[in-house]
Amino acid sequence: MVAPFPAHRPRRLRRNDALRRLVRETRVATEQLVQPLFVVPGTRVERPVASMPGVSQYSVDRVAEHCRALADVGIGSVLLFGVPETKDARGSAALDENGVIPQALRAIRAAAPGLLRMTDVCLCEYTDHGHCGVLTDREVDNDATLALLAAEALAHARAGADLVAPSDMMDGRVGAIRAALDGAGFPELPIMAYAAKYASGLYGPFRDAAESTPAFGDRRGYQMDPANAEDALREVAHDIAEGADIVMVKPALPYLDVIRRVKDRFGYPVAAYQVSGEYAMIKAAAANGWIDESRVVNETVTAIRRAGADIVITYFARDLAEAARRA
Ligand code: PBG
Ligand code: ZN
Repeated sequence: MVAPFPAHRPRRLRRNDALRRLVRETRVATEQLVQPLFVVPGTRVERPVASMPGVSQYSVDRVAEHCRALADVGIGSVLLFGVPETKDARGSAALDENGVIPQALRAIRAAAPGLLRMTDVCLCEYTDHGHCGVLTDREVDNDATLALLAAEALAHARAGADLVAPSDMMDGRVGAIRAALDGAGFPELPIMAYAAKYASGLYGPFRDAAESTPAFGDRRGYQMDPANAEDALREVAHDIAEGADIVMVKPALPYLDVIRRVKDRFGYPVAAYQVSGEYAMIKAAAANGWIDESRVVNETVTAIRRAGADIVITYFARDLAEAARRA
């Protein structure tokens, strides 16, 4: 209950910055942010992604330099996506212990030892058809994909990943990856599961950056229907039962209700992914002078935190870290 007007005047606490800061409920700390990065073959490659202004693909040498710069502004974690030299039907390059991601992991460890190295585990960047698993009769074959994902996670673990993040949405993949890691001497390596990953129209720019647009069909056969929230809670329950340490909701802003329900129901560390399309929308509107970019970035990331996310994966991580340093 609150006192009636005029005893209660909410505006009293909004009168200046110091007061507003004093009673602020939600803060965004740089150490809660994760910067996604795209690693490509070659050397001295720094190739801007057209649909994501400010985001580039980096070769191994450049991603290591870039990570040092990120660590210097206070970024604590990066999430790596790999674009391989060659793609095939089974995504074999994902299992290569000397592929772009293992190479990047070693280079980043040398260049920025304190930075937490997270890797995305999926096959869509590595398959020539662009789906997140192997196909049987043009359908993604869930059970045949599990061993490949587990082997990919293991290749990352052996190359020095600090955490693996499966994003494929196959049923049973967290359990398969957990068992493989435990069996190979990595029982302490955490899994951040893309638990509630929706079949979203907001992944378009990412698919340019990761070169992973499906050659036919779409991902609705394995990613979640945007209309469903109960299904998200079941997905999260499953992933936790299979050994997930952190659960993710993705995209972020259209699914704040899901973030809140997952946090309240499970009390686990929750990550939210402000995806490429969320980034591109803000960038495009700001470039047109229609919105104030830094204001909207702060507002959206604060909203994602307020909804219950402990961790925010965002292409704005570096900008936010730099702004926090200046403040
Ligand atoms: C693929 C994957 C996707 C993203 C992360 N991992 C997209 C997809 O399903 O195509 C999306 C990230 C973004 O849009 O920023 N498993
Ligand atoms: Zn995928």
